[in-house]
Amino acid sequence: MDIKVEQGSIEASAADTLIVNLFEGVTTPGGATGALDRALGGAISDLIAGGDLKGKAGEVAVLYPRGAVGARRVLVVGLGKAEAFDVEGVRRASAAAIKRARDLNAQHVATIVHGAGIGGLDPATAAQATVEGALLATYRFAAQKQREAANEIASLTIVEYDAGRLDAIRQGASLGEAVAGGVALARDLVNMPPNVATPTRLAEQAREIAAARGLAVTVGDRAWAAERHMGAFLAVAQGAGEPPAFIVLEHNAERSDLPAIVLVGKGITFDTGGISLKPGDRMWEMKSDMGGAAAVLGAMDAIGRLNLPLRVIGITPCTENMPDAAAYRPADVITASNGKTIEIISTDAEGRMVLADALVYAAQYEPAAVIDLATLTGACVVALGSGVAAGIFCNDDGLRDSLLAAADATYERLWPLPLYDDYRRSINSEVADMKNTGGRFGGVGTSAVFLREFTSYPWAHLDIAGVALAEKPGDYAPVGGTGFGVRLLVEYLRRL
Ligand code: BES
Ligand code: MN
Ligand code: ZN
Repeated sequence: MDIKVEQGSIEASAADTLIVNLFEGVTTPGGATGALDRALGGAISDLIAGGDLKGKAGEVAVLYPRGAVGARRVLVVGLGKAEAFDVEGVRRASAAAIKRARDLNAQHVATIVHGAGIGGLDPATAAQATVEGALLATYRFAAQKQREAANEIASLTIVEYDAGRLDAIRQGASLGEAVAGGVALARDLVNMPPNVATPTRLAEQAREIAAARGLAVTVGDRAWAAERHMGAFLAVAQGAGEPPAFIVLEHNAERSDLPAIVLVGKGITFDTGGISLKPGDRMWEMKSDMGGAAAVLGAMDAIGRLNLPLRVIGITPCTENMPDAAAYRPADVITASNGKTIEIISTDAEGRMVLADALVYAAQYEPAAVIDLATLTGACVVALGSGVAAGIFCNDDGLRDSLLAAADATYERLWPLPLYDDYRRSINSEVADMKNTGGRFGGVGTSAVFLREFTSYPWAHLDIAGVALAEKPGDYAPVGGTGFGVRLLVEYLRRL
C-alpha cells in the first residue's frame, strides 16, 4: 500500500473510497466530515439522525454517493467519546476503516487524518498513527499471500485541507511508514517457520538491513564467539545443528561523540528446551523465541531509515536450543565472557545464557542505556497474562520512566517488576557463581537478577514472552508475530 499526502478537500478526491470520521454524540458533523456531508446532501447527518451511525469506537458506516462525489463509496469511522480519545484511538479507527475498505475491494483510498481536529492531537502524531493503523492492520505474512490472492489496497492518500499543516503531516506519515515497515519485518521473522528463520537467515536479514540503511554489520560465528570467551552463548549453541550467529548492527558506528544506546534481542530460533526437553504440546510456539531479536532487527531497520541522530547498536545472539549428543546438560558449569561461572540446572533456561554474553559485549560501547528484549519466561506470562503487557525490570529510574512513557504513547504496554536481592539468593550455587534457574516461585524475578550479573550500565530488561506471538487477532494485528517492541523502541529513541 503506497502512502501519499495531498492538499485539498476530501470530497474532491479522485480515490474510489473516502474515509472520514465521527465522534460519538456529534449530531452535526464539522470539519472534513461536515464538508463531505454537505457534498452528499446531508446523507451522513441523516444516518446519525436515524440512529444508524453513532460514532462508537470501531463502528464503520458505508455510504454510496452515486455521483454526488467522485468516489464510489464513503466510509465513516467512529472515534468513540471525545473525552476518552487518544492516539491509540487513531490507530484503531484507521485500522477499522482500512480493513472495511479492503474487504470491499477498494483500490485507491483517501482518508483524513484522524484526531487532529476536535481530537486535539498534533497533526504529525495523528498522521503517524493514521498511517501505522492502516499499514499494521493490513499486514499479511508472505506465505499467506502466496496461498490465497486476497484484496489488496494499492494506495492510501491522506488529504488535508489546511496547507499550513501539510509539512507536519508529511513528517508524521513518513515516520509511520518507517515504523510500520520495521514492525512488518519483525512480524515476518517471527512468522517464518524455524527451519527458515535460522540464525544464518537472521544474519542475512541483518546484512540486508545494513546495506539498505547504511549500517555497519558484524556476524560472529562459533570461532568468533570462542575468541571472545562467550562460553554461555556457545553452551546453548553447542547442541545446535544450525550454525549460530552473534549479530551486531551499528547505526552511526563512527560517531563516538553521540551517546550510545544498545538494544539486545534474544534470538533463540527454536527452543526445544534442549536436554531439559519441553513437553510436545504447543512446542511449535517456540518458533517465536527469537521475538526479541526480530524486534531489534525491525527497530534497527526503522532507525536507519529515519537516520535518528543517535548512536544505536543492535545485538542479537542467535542459535537454536536443541537436545543433542553434543548439547550442554544440567550440572555443567559454564564460564561466561565476564568470567562468571554458571551451574546449569535447566538447559531450558537458555535465553539468559545467550543474553549474558550479549550484555557483557554491550559494555564495550560505554552505553548510556542498554535495553534487552527477550521471550524469557513462562512465569512472566503467568504474572501478566498473554497479549497484555511485557514485564520491565530496570536499574535506572530515568530509563524506566522514559520507557514507560514510550509504552504509554505506543500502547506497547510495560509493567514494572522488582529486581529484589531476595531473588539473587535463590540462584546461589555450591559450585559456581550462580545457577541458571531458581526455585519454583518468582521465576520472572530470578531470570532478571541473573541477567543483572552481566550488566554494568543503566539497563532495562523487557520480558516479552506473553506478547511476541498473538493467539487472537488484535485491533491492528493479525494472529501470529506481533512485532512487539519495534514501535516502543523507536518512540523511546525519538524522544531522547
Ligand atoms: N522461551 C522460554 C520462555 C517462554 C515461555 C516464552 C512461554 C514464550 C512463551 C524460555 O526459554 C524458557 O523455557 N523458560 C523457562 C525457564 C525455566 C526453565 C526456569 C520457563 O519459563 O519455564
Ligand atoms: Mn527455554
Ligand atoms: Zn527460550
